[in-house]
Amino acid sequence: GIALLGLAGWFIAATALAGLAGAGLAFNFFAPSAGIRFLALARTGSRYAERLVTHDASLRLLAVLRVDLFRGLATLKAPSLARWRGAEMLQRLTSDVDALDNLYLRLILPVAVFILTAVTLLLALLQIGWGVAAMIAALLVGGLATAVSAGAWTRKAARRLAAAQEALRVRSVDLVRTQTDLAVSGSLRAQKQSALKAARTMAEAARYLDAADLVSGAMLSLLGATALLAMFLLAAGEYQAGRIGGPVLVLAVLVTLAAAEAVAPLRRGALEFGRTALAARRLAPLLENRTAGGLSAAGGAETSPARPPVLAFHEVEFRYAVDRLPVLAGFSLTVEPGERIAVMGMSGSGKSTLLAMIAGLVEPTAGHICMGGRPLGEIPASEQVASIGLLTQRTELFCDTIAENLRVAAPKAGDAQLWAALAAVELDAKVRSLPGGLQARLGEGGNGLSGGEARRLALARIVLKSAPVWLLDEPMAGLDEALAARVMANLTRKAGTATIIVAAHHGREAAFAHRVMRLDT
Ligand SMILES: Nc1ncnc2c1ncn2[C@@H]1O[C@H](COP(=O)(O)OP(=O)(O)OP(=O)(O)O)[C@@H](O)[C@H]1O
Ligand SMILES: [Mg+2]
Repeated sequence: GIALLGLAGWFIAATALAGLAGAGLAFNFFAPSAGIRFLALARTGSRYAERLVTHDASLRLLAVLRVDLFRGLATLKAPSLARWRGAEMLQRLTSDVDALDNLYLRLILPVAVFILTAVTLLLALLQIGWGVAAMIAALLVGGLATAVSAGAWTRKAARRLAAAQEALRVRSVDLVRTQTDLAVSGSLRAQKQSALKAARTMAEAARYLDAADLVSGAMLSLLGATALLAMFLLAAGEYQAGRIGGPVLVLAVLVTLAAAEAVAPLRRGALEFGRTALAARRLAPLLENRTAGGLSAAGGAETSPARPPVLAFHEVEFRYAVDRLPVLAGFSLTVEPGERIAVMGMSGSGKSTLLAMIAGLVEPTAGHICMGGRPLGEIPASEQVASIGLLTQRTELFCDTIAENLRVAAPKAGDAQLWAALAAVELDAKVRSLPGGLQARLGEGGNGLSGGEARRLALARIVLKSAPVWLLDEPMAGLDEALAARVMANLTRKAGTATIIVAAHHGREAAFAHRVMRLDT
């Protein structure tokens, strides 16, 4: 583009001068006009190619980044995942990845183009004279300095914007999720205010960035105009002194105009540098993680581990925080394959915590737990997930159909399998009576079923998954004695040779166990 503008300027001026001087026929206008045609075609072609290549490259890059990010997340164990709040994770998966996309399109590419243009231009202009080259160099350096200082100036605001955006998400998600509790406790208003505050901070930061964008843009325009004027004066002086011809004067001025264009894209990249750098810093740990196995290892989710898992606790201690009393201390236990164990104890004695440790949701603070002879820490997350069916104390159901709520545990299960699992928890008649049957939709958090029904639907998932180890946290909560006894009997039959550990308050769950382990003695 710069060469085209320069050559065209030179050509027009030269032909005009040749015409004025009456030397029209002697003037060779074939070579320059061919050059102009070539440059014009090349410019269109390269523009098209550039769009094609850079868009393709950045879309590919974005795809690779996203896949790598999910790989990184898939290999994380539950305790590391649990450190993230849902909204924070959402932020990483959406706007941070998008911001990284800028790295290539708005930062690396413009800087490379700038360096290439600067070097070529300066080498070419040195043929005309030191003065002209120095002037262009001044323009380029000035433009670069403007862009870099704009970047430094807005770094904090860019980070503030990202932080406020995240805070807004976290608070809005909390606001919606805990709406009922907030309304009952009278703190709905305060939560709304805090979300609004984040929105205001976000708007302020965005306004500041807009202003910086405007000011730096104006400064660059001013710089370009000043350089143009200075170049004109300089070249006019040279021309008068007879050191350059008229056409070269026009060329120098037009090249200045075009060189200012090479500087402009630097500004966008510099302005977004703060956001991009922050995204890179936040995503780097997740992206690095991908090499540690990744989705390929997750393929193991379909195959159960070769050795039958036997659980062994060696002097396990667990504290929720260093300054808290341990929930468990010096706990040792060996579980043989196929054994059914009831863990009993008062409320708060650590039953749920024990199950969470086996499932890898929390890690012991001392001692170690082995599964199938291997320490839990060495077992890949995907294998551990495949080996364990965990029924947590809180029933987690989704706003989706009954069938999809069940298929969370076994994505490939057919309808017949779903009905069999429902029958095992004595829920088949109930589901059949719902409009739509398996396709009946539950509301938010499983709304539409009673507490005990929801509990049994969650239990049906464990039956469907049929993992070698079943961890059931108070599975019979909300069920009457007769129903509990029937369901418990069905469950043990379905479990076959699987190892079961049940956390319980009542003797009714313990009645099906081979062994009872008391935590509060
Ligand atoms: N996330 C947590 N952070 C801090 N302390 C916790 C946390 N979860 C549980 N605790 C504490 O750890 C102890 C054991 O809790 P746990 O849930 O394992 O008890 P539990 O035996 O399952 O009780 P319940 O029968 O009521 O379900 C309790 O004193 C509890 O207050
Ligand atoms: Mg519990």
